[in-house]
Amino acid sequence: MKKNGRTTLPNLRYLGLLGIAVFVVGLTGFITGMTPVENEKTAAGIEACTECHEDVATAFKTSMHSVGKAVCTDCHGDAAKHIDTGGEKGTILAFNIKNSALQNAKQCLACHQDTCVQYMSGPHGKASMSCTDCHGIHKTGHNRALLQAPAGKLCAGCHPDVMAQFNLNERHRLKEGILECITCHDPHKPGTRERLGGFKQQECLKCHTDKTGPFIFEHEASAVEGCSICHEVHGSPNRHLLKFQSVGELCFSCHAGAPAWHKGLVSFDANCAGCHSAVHGSNLDPLFLK
Ligand code: HEC
Ligand code: HEC
Ligand code: HEC
Ligand code: HEC
Ligand code: HEC
Ligand code: HEC
Ligand code: HEC
Ligand code: HEC
Ligand code: HEC
Ligand code: HEC
Repeated sequence: MKKNGRTTLPNLRYLGLLGIAVFVVGLTGFITGMTPVENEKTAAGIEACTECHEDVATAFKTSMHSVGKAVCTDCHGDAAKHIDTGGEKGTILAFNIKNSALQNAKQCLACHQDTCVQYMSGPHGKASMSCTDCHGIHKTGHNRALLQAPAGKLCAGCHPDVMAQFNLNERHRLKEGILECITCHDPHKPGTRERLGGFKQQECLKCHTDKTGPFIFEHEASAVEGCSICHEVHGSPNRHLLKFQSVGELCFSCHAGAPAWHKGLVSFDANCAGCHSAVHGSNLDPLFLK
């Protein structure tokens, strides 16, 4: 229950003294949405901290969280021991790397369920990253969403290999600001090949509306596997962001069984899509010829 001086259920400390009634109130608070439970120090709100943390407290008053009526202990947890000991080390939750990602995220999740309910099963939660790797609560002169750095720079800093793809000839226009990493990825959610937070292919189809379907004749590759089975989405040396240099190579990576007369076409670097022009799906032809 107690870790680094933090109590997730502050009222339980007084269980013995205050008896069953308080226990029921505390427990109900815990079960119903995990709203941070008030303790006697919270009642004094920010004032209880101002004496010793004037700079932080003053800056906080104009912050988004203060306007939203959050107080210091909503995030930092029970501060009774911290105050009693005059700020002794290890007496309050300080969101440092000594804690697990889950311990750090817990206080935040109490209010940000909607955004973060899947966080721990996503790649960043799994990699033991804390909210504070990307968000700076007390930073002043803030970027959007209290980010530590503008979103593009933030992601690029840890994913330089991906940024390199956006420098290739064929690429999405990230650098020009037409889209951002977070257009396609939600950093708080697990992603799969074609599901990057949101419904399948939804993000792509918002812009590429002609590929939306549903088509009478779906190409299973697209309908089942998703766009990224054929496209290198960030950037690629190949035309149309394709995974293979020639369209023929791409098609034959799945279609060993095309009619015999087709085989010769590969050596001509055949553009299969020249005839099978509706390769994303068709309403007219089961072979995607139109
Ligand atoms: C919304 C959550 C939240 C609230 C509310 C909050 N803090 Fe913090 N605080 C953090 C986080 C997270 C850190 C870790 C460093 C960071 O990311 O800014 C931190 C760090 C700190 C630190 C140590 C580092 C520093 O910047 O000096 C102090 C002291 C502090 N907070 C005091 C306060 C006080 C006092 C209040 C109320 C006036 C308060 N905090 C309100 C989340 C919060
Ligand atoms: C009686 C003085 C005093 C009061 C009141 C006080 N603090 Fe502190 N606090 C300190 C001292 C001293 C430190 C250590 C400062 C340092 O390391 O620079 C500290 C450190 C912290 C840290 C960083 C802890 C760490 O391990 O890095 C946080 C977070 C913090 N206080 C939050 C709060 C909050 C929130 C309140 C109000 C609920 C509060 N403090 C009230 C004296 C106080
Ligand atoms: C890898 C970086 C990263 C991590 C880790 C991260 N976030 Fe975010 N967060 C972002 C970015 C980028 C945005 C801006 C998204 C946008 O503008 O569409 C954002 C937006 C938000 C928002 C506002 C947008 C909304 O949906 O309401 C909240 C609240 C938030 N994050 C909370 C958290 C919490 C809580 C955690 C930890 C459990 C966390 N974040 C971890 C990068 C991150
Ligand atoms: C007591 C509830 C509460 C807690 C706990 C809390 N927040 Fe918030 N947070 C808010 C409110 C209220 C806002 C104001 C914007 C809003 O209404 O969504 C906000 C705003 C934010 C935003 C900016 C959202 C935007 O739209 O730009 C981020 C990011 C964020 N919080 C991250 C965190 C992180 C990280 C923690 C944990 C360290 C945390 N919050 C803890 C209530 C809380
Ligand atoms: C502090 C470093 C850091 C930041 C900042 C960061 N990431 Fe990550 N990211 C990681 C780590 C670590 C992993 C898990 C290991 C891996 O797959 O590389 C990861 C994984 C991912 C994955 C899943 C990779 C896979 O193979 O499934 C995606 C997608 C991703 N990050 C996108 C983003 C986006 C978008 C942003 C900006 C909002 C961002 N990241 C910011 C460190 C970071
Ligand atoms: C146009 C949409 C889109 C944009 C913009 C985008 N991504 Fe992706 N990203 C994808 C898709 C689709 C995949 C899945 C590829 C696969 O699984 O074959 C992916 C995969 C990833 C992966 C895991 C696989 C890999 O290539 O390493 C990471 C990490 C990643 N993206 C990070 C980022 C970062 C960071 C940015 C911004 C610099 C970004 N993405 C911008 C769509 C996008
Ligand atoms: C079976 C492989 C395959 C899949 C799956 C696939 N594509 Fe394509 N895509 C291609 C080929 C091949 C071309 C090049 C066609 C040509 O040469 O005329 C192409 C071209 C494109 C083009 C540029 C030319 C045009 O028709 O507008 C866009 C945009 C595109 N695809 C988006 C998507 C999207 C979005 C998805 C997911 C819904 C997707 N693709 C799924 C194979 C595929
Ligand atoms: C925010 C809008 C947007 C989103 C989201 C988006 N794209 Fe694009 N995409 C574009 C634009 C604009 C271009 C044209 C790029 C240029 O300027 O040359 C493009 C180009 C392409 C091309 C190359 C077309 C060609 O003719 O060479 C393919 C393939 C493609 N996108 C696939 C995808 C896939 C797959 C996804 C989802 C993972 C996706 N796009 C998400 C806007 C978007
Ligand atoms: C990721 C694997 C994959 C790729 C790549 C792919 N396809 Fe398919 N395609 C399928 C599957 C699965 C079906 C469903 C029928 C089947 O099982 O053969 C199908 C069906 C077809 C059909 C309908 C005829 C039939 O056999 O049912 C045609 C025509 C076709 N694909 C052409 C192409 C062309 C042209 C390309 C290259 C642009 C291509 N495909 C790339 C997986 C793929
Ligand atoms: C010159 C036009 C043309 C080109 C180029 C072409 N095809 Fe076809 N393809 C057809 C026609 C017409 C049919 C239907 C007649 C038939 O089955 O022989 C067909 C049928 C198919 C079928 C369905 C076979 C079956 O009966 O299930 C597949 C799969 C296919 N093509 C794949 C490919 C691939 C892969 C390429 C590139 C290497 C390609 N095609 C290039 C015209 C073309």
